[in-house]
Amino acid sequence: MKHLTSLLDLTPLDLLAVLDKAAELKTLLKRGERPQLFPGRVLVQLFEKPSLRTRNSFEAAMIHLGGSGIFLTTAEAGLNGRESLADVARVVSSFSDLITMRTFSQKLIEDVAKHATCPVINGLSDERHPCQAMTDLLTIRETLGDLQGRHLVFVGDGNNVSMSLAIATAMTGMHMTLAAPQGFEFTPDFMALLNSRYPNHNVTVCNNPFDAVRHADIVYTDVWASMGQEDDAERRKAAFAAFQVNSDLMTAAPRSAIFMHDLPAKRGLEVTDDVMDGPQSVVFAQAENRMHLAKGLFVWLLNQSTPR
Ligand code: CP
Ligand code: NVA
Repeated sequence: MKHLTSLLDLTPLDLLAVLDKAAELKTLLKRGERPQLFPGRVLVQLFEKPSLRTRNSFEAAMIHLGGSGIFLTTAEAGLNGRESLADVARVVSSFSDLITMRTFSQKLIEDVAKHATCPVINGLSDERHPCQAMTDLLTIRETLGDLQGRHLVFVGDGNNVSMSLAIATAMTGMHMTLAAPQGFEFTPDFMALLNSRYPNHNVTVCNNPFDAVRHADIVYTDVWASMGQEDDAERRKAAFAAFQVNSDLMTAAPRSAIFMHDLPAKRGLEVTDDVMDGPQSVVFAQAENRMHLAKGLFVWLLNQSTPR
């Protein structure tokens, strides 16, 4: 049984296969074709946190491919202690073809995957956001071409999004620099995991965003306070003040660099309006690509081939 609890569930070749299938299905959709790969299939989504892009792009992807979606909060599903996790996982997966989860705890997703009888997809936890990172590779490939050797500079927190991007870049021969304030870099545990799984990775950490972006192909940022960190938002706002992606920082990067953000953005904090809405920004292409990526991922998880 395949799952996607983290990008480490995929080989680099699997990852490229997902991107290729997503790109193929995107091209078909742009021609008005919606191949009915999954008629009658059911995607169940169990979410503990809000979502615009993930929830709706997954559901739209399944509908386009002939299936449909059911949405439940994790509490409604009984993961709040109403019954055991193993029982919830067995019951939900008995009437689902795919399960997507968005949680605080990464372990909760991994534990549900252990007991589920259908594939489980991580739709974001506090530690990982693999579908976002895969979508970002798809968007980079569409915009800049080959991934190999490209340099992604993430200006911001060593969080779920940047950790998944670090794994994604390591898997595809890209370079990544995390420019974060002291105390917000990747943890030693995460770096040890990356070193053990991808010893030849080219992921580095620094504390100076202007130095970091000098040779960037991609300047990427995310919110300074993630979901669940709202009480820490003021402290973070002060700590990250010098890490805003604004026109001064973009001027320090090559003119050919693109700007990326997984969204939702806090405009005026981690990014200014002129950068978000400027000519280097691909943020809305990223958001749209969440749906195309979801299709590629469904095909990989369900071993489905596209009829010709
Ligand atoms: N980027 C992303 O995951 O957005 P949502 O939180 O709206 O799903
Ligand atoms: N780091 C952000 C990503 C949102 C898609 C969060 O976890 O809230």
